[in-house]
Amino acid sequence: MNATINSFMNQPDERGHFGQFGGRYVAETLMPLILDLEREYRAAQADPEFHAQLDDLLKHYVGRPSPLYYAERLTEELRKDAPAGKGAQIWFKRDELNHTGAHKINNCIGQILLAIRMGKTRIIAETGAGQHGVATATVCARFGLPCVIYMGAKDVERQQPNVFRMKLLGAEVIPVTSGANTLKDAMNEALRDWVANVHDTFYIIGTAAGPHPYPELVRDFQSVIGKEARAQMLSRINRLPDLLVAAIGGGSNAIGLFHPFLDDSDVAMLGIEAAGHGLDKEHAASLAGGRPGILHGNKTYLLQDEDGQIAEAHSISAGLDYPGIGPEHSWLKEIGRVRYDSVTDTEALEGFQLLCRTEGIIPALEPSHAIAAVAREAAKMDRDQIILANLCGRGDKDIFTVAEALGEKM
Ligand SMILES: Cc1ncc(COP(=O)(O)O)c(C=O)c1O
Repeated sequence: MNATINSFMNQPDERGHFGQFGGRYVAETLMPLILDLEREYRAAQADPEFHAQLDDLLKHYVGRPSPLYYAERLTEELRKDAPAGKGAQIWFKRDELNHTGAHKINNCIGQILLAIRMGKTRIIAETGAGQHGVATATVCARFGLPCVIYMGAKDVERQQPNVFRMKLLGAEVIPVTSGANTLKDAMNEALRDWVANVHDTFYIIGTAAGPHPYPELVRDFQSVIGKEARAQMLSRINRLPDLLVAAIGGGSNAIGLFHPFLDDSDVAMLGIEAAGHGLDKEHAASLAGGRPGILHGNKTYLLQDEDGQIAEAHSISAGLDYPGIGPEHSWLKEIGRVRYDSVTDTEALEGFQLLCRTEGIIPALEPSHAIAAVAREAAKMDRDQIILANLCGRGDKDIFTVAEALGEKM
C-alpha cells in the first residue's frame, strides 16, 4: 500500500490492534486496570477542560511550541559531497529544547493528568536513557506525587547525570539486575510492581508500546510534535516536507512526528533503528532483524532467538536499546506507509559530531542516528526538496559515552 491511508485507518480497532499488531496481552489482574485507563482516556479526550489544562502546561511548563529550524550550515556541508544538483534542505523540529531536554515530557504531562483524574496516588515508570525517568520524576515533583523509577543497572551506569537528576527531583531509582540490565528488564520490573499495586499506582509508560491503550495514548500525546511541525512548515514556507526522519527506540518520537502527516500522501517517512555494531552482530533493529512476537503486553516485531526467547538488544544509545518496537510501527512497515532503515553506533557518532560542528547543537545519541540517516538521504535528493528530522533530545546526558567512544579523557 502506498501513501493512501484514510485517517479512519490510522486508529487501532476497539481491542487495540493495528492490523495483526498491538492488542493487550496482560495478566488477568491488570485487565480491569487497562480497561479503566481506556475509559478514563476516552473521557479525557472528550473533555475540553482536560485539553485546556494539557495545552496550558505544554505551553508554560514544557515551553511549547518547540521551534522549527532550518539547518543552513549542515545543508551546505552535506552538499559539498553530494552529486551535482543533489543535497536536500535540512530542517529540524527542536524538541530537544523542551523542559528536561527531550520529547518524553510531552507524554508524561498527559499521563500524569490521567493518573490524577483516576485518583491514583503513586507513580511508577521504566527508563532507558533516563530521559523518560527524568520527565516522569519532573511531573511527579510538579504534582506532588511519589515516584519510583525502574532502570536497568547497565543504564544506571552509563546515564549517571540523569540518575542524579531523578534523585534531585525526589524520585526513588531502583536499578534492575535481571536479563541484560537494560530497558526491557526495567519494563518487566515496572509491570511486576504495577500488578502488585494496582489499587493506588499509575504506570507512566515512556514509549508507544505496552498493552492497549498505551501505544495509542502515548502516540496522541507525542503527536503535538507533528501537529506543530506541520503547521509551522505551512506558515514558514507554505509547503510540507518531502521526507520526515526520526530515530526509533520504542517509537514514540517517531510516531509523534509521523502521525499527523499520515494522510499527506506526498510526504515520505523514514524511521531509523539502531544497528549497533552492525545488523549481523549486536544491534537493536527489531524491524530489520526481528519477527513478530509478544512482549510487554502487545504483539510486535521483536528480536528473538530460534526458540522465541527475547534476544538482547545493543546500541551505543541507551534510549534505543530495546528489543521491540511500538506496534503501530510494525503495522506501518507492513502496509508500506513508512520506510525503516538503520544506522550503526559508528555512524551515529559521526552524525553527533557533524551537528555539533555545523550547527552548534549537541544532540542526544538517539537523534544522532536520525542525523546520520539524514546525511545519507540528503545526498540522494534534489536541492529544492526538504527533509524534516526530529531532534528529540539534547546531548548533555551522553557526553561521557561519546568521550569514551572517541578516546577522550574526561
Ligand atoms: C532523547 C531520546 N530520543 C529517543 C528515545 C527513544 O524513544 P522513542 O523511540 O520512544 O522516542 C529516547 C528514549 O529514552 C530518548 O531519550
